[in-house]
Amino acid sequence: MCGIIGCVGRDDGTLETLVHGLSKLEYRGYDSAGVALTGPGTGLDICKRAGEIDDLRDGLAGRTLSGTVGVGHTRWSTHGPPTDENAHPHMDCAGNVAVVHNGIIENYQPLRDELTRAGHTFTSDTDTEVVPHLIEDALEGGPDPEEAVRTAISRLDGSYAIAAVVAGHEVVFAARNDSPLVLGIGDDALYLASDVPAFRDYTDRVIYLDDGEFARLDGAWTVTDAEGTVVEKPVDTVDWDPEETGKSGYDHYMLKEIHEQPRALRQCLRGRVDELGGAVDIGDLGDLSPTGVQFVACGTSYHAGLYAAGLFRAAGVPAQAFLASEYASGVPPTGDALVVGITQSGETADTLSALREARRRGARTMAVTNTVGSTAARECDHAFYIRAGPEIGVAATKTFASQLAALNLLALATAGGDARDIVPALRDLPGDVQAVLDDSTAPAVAETYEDAPAYFFIGRGLHYPVALEGALKMKEITYKHAEGFAAGELKHGPLALVTENTPVFAVVTGDGELARKTVGNVKEVEARNAPVVAVTDGASDVERYADHVLEIPETHPRAASVLANVQLQLVSYHVAARLGRSIDKPRNLAKSVTVE
Ligand code: M6R
Repeated sequence: MCGIIGCVGRDDGTLETLVHGLSKLEYRGYDSAGVALTGPGTGLDICKRAGEIDDLRDGLAGRTLSGTVGVGHTRWSTHGPPTDENAHPHMDCAGNVAVVHNGIIENYQPLRDELTRAGHTFTSDTDTEVVPHLIEDALEGGPDPEEAVRTAISRLDGSYAIAAVVAGHEVVFAARNDSPLVLGIGDDALYLASDVPAFRDYTDRVIYLDDGEFARLDGAWTVTDAEGTVVEKPVDTVDWDPEETGKSGYDHYMLKEIHEQPRALRQCLRGRVDELGGAVDIGDLGDLSPTGVQFVACGTSYHAGLYAAGLFRAAGVPAQAFLASEYASGVPPTGDALVVGITQSGETADTLSALREARRRGARTMAVTNTVGSTAARECDHAFYIRAGPEIGVAATKTFASQLAALNLLALATAGGDARDIVPALRDLPGDVQAVLDDSTAPAVAETYEDAPAYFFIGRGLHYPVALEGALKMKEITYKHAEGFAAGELKHGPLALVTENTPVFAVVTGDGELARKTVGNVKEVEARNAPVVAVTDGASDVERYADHVLEIPETHPRAASVLANVQLQLVSYHVAARLGRSIDKPRNLAKSVTVE
């Protein structure tokens, strides 16, 4: 989704700092980009282009944009197509104010009508453009720029992270409502961004803005509330290195992040699992004993929610997973229920909205997230961190593995159940994932089936969410049709889609009832001459009916889901790589989806 960067005090190159920051935000997904600079006694210089950061760089070639303060933006279109005109920053009529914005201004149309009647001319289709014109109006009364920006912000309804500069003033103004903004406190310079990677190369000291807050960055920083009262803000330190956001020699972030899973899992489990005694310790969170759990999440995180609901139900605690965007129309939480938002970013608008709805209905809430200081972490009663490290590829990979591990810990600590078998399996999980990564034959499977018109994925029990996740990964990075099904559902309709050209990936582990039934479904597929790829630990006889086998080590069924998913991640990655897809930034998608 859209990204914001701003800086003041970078004597060695404001423009380079802004463009570098934008390149660090590319992973969020975008379709145009731009920058605006100014400084004491100078006008406003602006450049913006539809397309990628390289298109912006082309636009900047041969131009001298100077200034000691500036803002930049990557736009993911909501109001109007990706064009130069719709790219941010947006300006007022006189060209004295530049504004970048993430989110949606819900009352932009009446504001635009009002401003148009007052003589303002608009040059874009965006909701954002009302903001610089509102500031322009407010400046006419003669107040100082901060007053003017505050006045404009007070007119807005909706979600926004906004940064603005006014020609000739060495200040960045920023305001937040329902869309993340974080300040970076450097030794000589100050930054603001929608996400820390934008300035992490320069500082690890950060201040997370809360809704309704307003920031002014000049030689110093101040944060105030909507009334202008100073808010004391803690300065936090981020706990990851800038190198973690590089590709480390891999062709794509996604492949790097797939290979980082052993480390991510170790980080998730460290200090939470007693290696000898088999106990799980997640601190005070372990004292929660919910009578029921509702998981709310989107996409990959929803698949983690389906898996987690299975864990809680197995421990005798009623649990359901909801698509966050559908939660409001679902069953309200009752009694001592806990509503858990699973969200890697902690900023997904649908998930935040579901969590707010849950609070409104009186439930306790918890965020299971990767992002310390995220909105979900701060708004919920409890936060449980999955500690996967930064994930840049739009496709969620290592965060899914860490979510599954963390949710096992949460279920064991809060719902109980026999930890003796699963704890050793969790402890061995990083090594088992490494073994899968080392020995996977996924590249050969990808080569065999890269031309297939569609792919199907089946599994039962805890492997059903893995089937859904396998299909999501395949469709989002290969742009091919892919569907995941509960294996037993295949014969109730989807089997009509299965042909000799459509590979079916079947996740089958162990030799219990679920495995036997899934093997039965595999036979139905084989009887229709569809190629079968079995993801298996070899405990059942599924290999007899499979054209290809992707092996995983034998382990506890809960850990087997994580291992099977790694194989499916690799297949999708290699199919996408062979097809030359934009793997880290798939078309139309964004890493952090901050609109509903
Ligand atoms: O940050 P979140 O976990 O809340 O994101 C939710 C989904 O947008 C996300 O899981 C998405 O489905 C994945 N990036 C797909 O790989």
